Amino acid sequence: MAGNESKYTVLLQNVDKTLGKVKRIDHISLETEPGKIYGLLGPNGAGKTTLFHLITGLYRPDSGTVRVAQLDPVKDYKAARRQIGLLPQSTALYPELSARENLRFHAALYLPKKQKDVERRIEKILSLVDLSERADEPVKTYSGGMCRRLGIGRALLNDPQILLLDEPTLGVDVQSTHRIYEYIRRLKDGHKTILVATNVMAEADALCDEVIILDHGKKVCQGSPAKLKAELGTGTIHLVPKGSRPFEEAQLWNRIGDFTWDHGAIVIPAPRGEQDLAAVLGRLRDVMDLESVSLCKPSLDDVFLHYTGKNLRE
Ligand SMILES: Nc1ncnc2c1ncn2[C@@H]1O[C@H](COP(=O)(O)OP(=O)(O)OP(=O)(O)O)[C@@H](O)[C@H]1O
Ligand SMILES: [Mg+2]
Repeated sequence: MAGNESKYTVLLQNVDKTLGKVKRIDHISLETEPGKIYGLLGPNGAGKTTLFHLITGLYRPDSGTVRVAQLDPVKDYKAARRQIGLLPQSTALYPELSARENLRFHAALYLPKKQKDVERRIEKILSLVDLSERADEPVKTYSGGMCRRLGIGRALLNDPQILLLDEPTLGVDVQSTHRIYEYIRRLKDGHKTILVATNVMAEADALCDEVIILDHGKKVCQGSPAKLKAELGTGTIHLVPKGSRPFEEAQLWNRIGDFTWDHGAIVIPAPRGEQDLAAVLGRLRDVMDLESVSLCKPSLDDVFLHYTGKNLRE
């Protein structure tokens, strides 16, 4: 492969894939580097899992190129797969076996036979995903969040340089979700390349250096969450005046310039966010009493809405 393409841990160039007569991946290009977290976002059926199947070599692209650590994941399936740790969308664990036994079983199947320090590695992983205490109890007694954590641990067994996490916090409570985010951030600091498929925008916002929004198999936008939100425009200040103290709109115009009304709230553009909020409050102090004040900034949900024209839950 030519030039600086070799620095990419995962590389997709103009990849197409049709399944069941419908193009499910439509001309997707993507490059990833170590030490970064990438979010694949999109509604149900957008093509996130299909893209993972192309990266793991389960699917052969109809056209275009897929490379994993410079390897062709279809032709060099075993070698490419060794570079990847995968948390599938639905993790198949053995319910009668304990966490430790599940990891041992997976290691026996997928790790090179010669690997000596497997037991030590399993111990380390159990501790990383906070399962040491319950490691010898059958998995059927675990909560959903514990199973998801074990799934992440299993994906880490072969110490992969690329981690594919398909909806890592699916069915997980808030507390465990935040613990999972901590592990993922720690792995990023360990210079792994992490791809997270999710339809939870807050998850992408909390974790990802870069997000790629997919819709109907097409990439509709890419960039850091901060950049994508900033491109949407600036924030707005929403002020609800107290009814008890009347004021004149002309005074408002004099003090703050441009504003609009929205459901009883005064809406003022705030290109400089909190700084504008402080200034506006200062200018209106002797003009009106306020019931409530809020500063609204574009969210990743707004970004999604903007690029796809639809809400994730539609
Ligand atoms: N083997 C297959 N044959 C036919 N169609 C398929 C196959 N696998 C996936 N699809 C279709 O491709 C589209 C993309 O599916 P995919 O599982 O990649 O979506 P996703 O973005 O992961 O969605 P979700 O958020 O629900 O997990 C869907 O419409 C799905 O029904
Ligand atoms: Mg999926």
